[in-house]
Amino acid sequence: MRIAAASSLLILISLALPAIALAGQETEAPREARMEWWTEARFGMFIHWGLYALPARHEWVKQREAITDEDYQRYFDQFNPDLYEPQEWARLAKAAGMKYFVVTTKHHEGFCLWDSQYTDYKATKTPYGKDLIKPMVEAFRAEGLRVGFYHSLLDWHHPDYPVDRHHPMFNNLEFRARAKDRDVRKYAEYLHNQVRELLTEFGTVDCLFMDYSFPGENGKDRNDWQSEKLIRMIRELQPQIIVNDRLDLLDVPGGWDYRTPEQFMPREWVEMDGKRIPWETCQTFSGSWGYHRDEATWKSVRQLVVMLIETVSKGGNLLLNVGPTARGTFDDRAVARLEGMGVWMKDHGRSIYGCTQAPDAFKIPQNSLLTYNPAAKRIYVHVLEWPMGALYLDGFAGRVAYAQLLDDASEVKFIDQSRAGEIGFFPGERKGDKGEAIILRLPVRPPDVTVPVIELFLK
Ligand code: GLC
Repeated sequence: MRIAAASSLLILISLALPAIALAGQETEAPREARMEWWTEARFGMFIHWGLYALPARHEWVKQREAITDEDYQRYFDQFNPDLYEPQEWARLAKAAGMKYFVVTTKHHEGFCLWDSQYTDYKATKTPYGKDLIKPMVEAFRAEGLRVGFYHSLLDWHHPDYPVDRHHPMFNNLEFRARAKDRDVRKYAEYLHNQVRELLTEFGTVDCLFMDYSFPGENGKDRNDWQSEKLIRMIRELQPQIIVNDRLDLLDVPGGWDYRTPEQFMPREWVEMDGKRIPWETCQTFSGSWGYHRDEATWKSVRQLVVMLIETVSKGGNLLLNVGPTARGTFDDRAVARLEGMGVWMKDHGRSIYGCTQAPDAFKIPQNSLLTYNPAAKRIYVHVLEWPMGALYLDGFAGRVAYAQLLDDASEVKFIDQSRAGEIGFFPGERKGDKGEAIILRLPVRPPDVTVPVIELFLK
């Protein structure tokens, strides 16, 4: 009797399961497992490409200069990236050490880089006449990189998109009067349809970067985008996908996977409700995301390498942006930086991939940043300013089995500080000094690399 009751209950449950799964985040694989490759990867390429590459003065140019649709049309009519060779982009990304990429399928201007059936405002209708996304996805996949799509929630071209405080025509009262009956539900339908296309026509999409919500007066939020419905569809179509945090669903379970501090370095590992969470900072080379001809604030290779190290030292990922030109190329400034980072990554990737923040017991040494590979049980000391002769590592005494420079695997000798006096390792150390530190004996000249790294094998 009992057994029969139990088994019919089981049948009932198993019949109900698919329905439950379709109803919500139950389709979501556990976050940590889903994000494992991403956490391991640490370094990706952001690509902002669209019509704004032609004016070449920021991807928000339409809004900043309040350009009308009629005037902006010239960039559409002119769009013809004749030198576009995504294999070259993918090669550069891989050589820089990047493991995934995220490309703007549509930015706020509304222009679609793929051949969407829901609009004519797309690459295939420009003089170029071809889809840009398929070959890009194929090229990056062929180099072994994971695929991500950025998709703008805002749309400054769509006729059903209600004018809000970020819209280029916000201060144009005539335009607003004409647009006053726009129905955001119609726009949401377009948005959902396009996201469905993106998640069904390009194979596995590893990450999705939806951008962005701005609740409040003349703003837009989850109700406008119908974010909860949207995230359900996203997770149904691609259960393994990793989604960012800009759908205005921070309080909804399964509404986001990682936080996205933008052009900003958090002081420490990003937390929510007192808990460390996955995070990725997106950064530019020079301030603008879209190609900007006249920008002069380009970061150096060294600054970018340090930015990557610092991000990983706080448990985060770095998504570093390139804004390709309207010819379809990465300009020389971008190429120089990608190549420069690649030179360093080739010898030092071990201190980045699979690494995270070091346990608190290991104090951060002066002028240095630490990363930690828990699986390999190694700590990496990134020495930003090479000290004279000795580097003191507090909290490391008794814990290190072997130390070497990472670039050439040459041994670095070290001793517990408490023994330094006894054997004259460093004449300046007083006999009998006690401490939790070890002292690394460094060569006078640092290795000739962008940022020297010492690899410590823990016991
Ligand atoms: C933003 C901006 C934008 C850029 C992006 C990257 O919110 O509007 O132009 O695409 O974030 O994170």
